[in-house]
Amino acid sequence: MAAGGGSRAVLFVCLGNICRSPMAEAVLKKQLADRGMGGQWVVDSAALGPWHVGEPPDSRTLLTLKSHGLRTEHRGRMVGAEDFHRFDYILCMDYSNMSDLKEIQPQRSKAELKLLGSYDGREDDVIGDPYYLEVEDFERVFKLVWQACSDFLDAVN
Ligand code: 4NP
Repeated sequence: MAAGGGSRAVLFVCLGNICRSPMAEAVLKKQLADRGMGGQWVVDSAALGPWHVGEPPDSRTLLTLKSHGLRTEHRGRMVGAEDFHRFDYILCMDYSNMSDLKEIQPQRSKAELKLLGSYDGREDDVIGDPYYLEVEDFERVFKLVWQACSDFLDAVN
């Protein structure tokens, strides 16, 4: 995937690419569409771990998105070093994601590597992993992701 025609590109990354990052991908696409900017951005998501490559998001992610009128066709994929050249922003969810990404970040990285939650000015930048939690926690994550994506767009546009 390349960002052509003056568009910008953002990749969301979490551990499994079935809960937080595909949720963020769907949310940002919706917010871009709402702002009339859908054609100006490439938005994707990826995993640090291999377990769910090729799979759709977790059923609780899909349920939570659906309850907000959103859907996704995303299938899990691994992040790779080449993504640091393709994307302008690589936005991860927690400090473990961050240290894993720094391990594969090439020296000449185009991408700005940041925590998604760092754009909202709150003290706690982490969007914690809901995988071992309940469906209610996915709604809590949705609210954090929604606010963080909105703050990201405000910051970079
Ligand atoms: P995510 O959650 O990183 O938000 O997609 C996880 C999903 C799956 C696993 C871990 C975290 N897993 O170990 O399979």
